Amino acid sequence: MTDGSRIADTTAVRARFGARAPVLMETTLLRRRAVDKLGELGPVSDWLFTDEALQQATAAPVALHRAGRLAAAGAVVHDATCSVGTELAALHGSGVRALGSDIDPVRLAMARHNVGSRVDLCRADALRPVTRDTVVVVDPARRRGGRRQFSPEDYQPGLGALFDTYRGRDLVVKCAPGIDFEQVGRLGFEGEIEVTSYRGSVREACLWSAGLAEPGVRRRASVLDRGEQLTDAEPDDCPVAPVGRWIVDPDGAVVRSGLVRHYGARHGLWQLDPDIAYLSGDELPPEVRGFEVLEQLDFDERRLRRALAAADCGAVEILVRGVSVDPDALRRRLRLAGGRSLSVVITRLGTGPAGRAIAYVCRASR
Ligand SMILES: C[S@@+](CC[C@H](N)C(=O)[O-])C[C@H]1O[C@@H](n2cnc3c(N)ncnc32)[C@H](O)[C@@H]1O
Repeated sequence: MTDGSRIADTTAVRARFGARAPVLMETTLLRRRAVDKLGELGPVSDWLFTDEALQQATAAPVALHRAGRLAAAGAVVHDATCSVGTELAALHGSGVRALGSDIDPVRLAMARHNVGSRVDLCRADALRPVTRDTVVVVDPARRRGGRRQFSPEDYQPGLGALFDTYRGRDLVVKCAPGIDFEQVGRLGFEGEIEVTSYRGSVREACLWSAGLAEPGVRRRASVLDRGEQLTDAEPDDCPVAPVGRWIVDPDGAVVRSGLVRHYGARHGLWQLDPDIAYLSGDELPPEVRGFEVLEQLDFDERRLRRALAAADCGAVEILVRGVSVDPDALRRRLRLAGGRSLSVVITRLGTGPAGRAIAYVCRASR
């Protein structure tokens, strides 16, 4: 089943396994994809999946992170939308007593195969509680008929219905990272929202009901790539000042959780503008990729092209915040031909008539 052998292999598998050949081949390919996404959970190359179930599965490091937090809380966990068992495997592997349910009998059968007899499973609607004294974890489906659902009321099960069903109980709900936090509040949620990133992209916003939240914490950013966590209980004294040696573009989890100032305060950085998420400092926080400022100019395309050509730039990475510039289109228009790779950070400083767009020509730390 490599690209080169697929046609011949398909013919051979059809001849040997007849009508079961497509399922067999799909399972083989899904297992290969699963190793990258779920490999930390154990021997997933033996697991059963559907394509959609694998797409929906929480990546292993994210599932293990949640499981670690539940283990620390000493919880018995009911995963009420367990699908093929990803989060159950993470919970079990983290020493948490867990059981699972789902409304879909095929996924439950796959979960039984995947997690074995070590975890209890049953078929149930998450909106009809079947356990007591458990922490209920729900990861609602966010697609219907193949289309992504953006409103939390259109999740399956819907967020409002979940809050009503489990009011007063410990509840953890995995949501899309872009979920409207104010809407979540209007639906009656009062706990902590944890935004988690992994491999440089924001993976989810997880709602932890008040009983599971750390006292005084309403927002948390968890950056799994470097094991950093930040909450809104920390100080946010982050000044606004002109650019220093470095520009830092904070991780998406920090930005999405609204903790840019807290992050700046923790690492001795300052904001370039009170409304813009770029930070600056004379030293980079550990393990962070930053941009060393070589030159700054009022943003103007011709002027920027001249500055980059003078710096012998041939490849440019363009970061943009607060100005309407399409980085890909600008990169194409710049038509650079030099030998160096540089980065350009374009942003707005100040608002209204006093606002101006600035371009910082930089060298990336890595
Ligand atoms: C996004 S998937 C969960 C993925 C899972 N957390 C994982 O990491 O593999 C959503 C699951 O919710 C299930 N589901 C949808 N509505 C449900 C309901 N009312 N009650 C129980 N399960 C439901 C679907 O069958 C699906 O398996």
